[in-house]
Amino acid sequence: MTGFFITVEGGDGAGKTTHLKFIHEWLQNRKVKVLLSREPGGTEIGESIRELLLHGRRRITDETELLLMFAARMENIEQLIRPAIARGDCVLCDRFTDASYAYQGGGRGISNVRISQLEQWVHGDLQPDLTIVLDVPIETAMKRTLDRGEASDRFERESRDFKNAVRQSYIDRAERFPDRIKVIDASKSIEEVESSVETVLLDFYTDWQIDNAKT
Ligand SMILES: Nc1ncnc2c1ncn2[C@@H]1O[C@H](COP(=O)(O)OP(=O)(O)O)[C@@H](O)[C@H]1O
Ligand SMILES: [Mg+2]
Repeated sequence: MTGFFITVEGGDGAGKTTHLKFIHEWLQNRKVKVLLSREPGGTEIGESIRELLLHGRRRITDETELLLMFAARMENIEQLIRPAIARGDCVLCDRFTDASYAYQGGGRGISNVRISQLEQWVHGDLQPDLTIVLDVPIETAMKRTLDRGEASDRFERESRDFKNAVRQSYIDRAERFPDRIKVIDASKSIEEVESSVETVLLDFYTDWQIDNAKT
């Protein structure tokens, strides 16, 4: 029995951390073993790269930013994701390659062709089985991150145009991969968002159980 791979996406303040916890508990209640990871990060090297990317004081060119994202991702995939899925566990990851298309593609303006070349190299044969995009107007998201009270990172300090481009890129990705990517209106209350997340999750998990029973 192989495991499965779920990613949660969305801008800062969309509610990823909040709903990852909910998904984690939901799966644990069904006796699914869950490995939690995040991007950039997850591994020791990945977390060091995260620090550079989110809190580094030096200027980084857009291309280097993209390459570092994929370098951290390579470690995450080889050290954590592939072994966990091979063991039959579920991997739950806070952001993955869709975020590179949204932030470095939509936000920074790097071509999708370039990102896709890196994607093919780093994980051509491995895609998330389910991706939940939490979609929220940037004003709402910005207010939430302010209320959260943590120091802002390099991406949170970006312009409104950047954040709107990120949001739109996620929507475009979801239209392109409707079977894998599910967009949820995350502007509603936490309870309402949870309920939408649960519907998507139940649907996915039921299909996965049926597929596994066949093999
Ligand atoms: N649907 C929601 N309604 C109101 N507040 C929310 C909602 N979802 C998350 N929050 C709050 O907004 C803040 C940011 O949420 P968080 O899960 O940390 O977002 P992210 O991980 O996507 O940056 C947190 O303080 C969280 O409690
Ligand atoms: Mg978070």
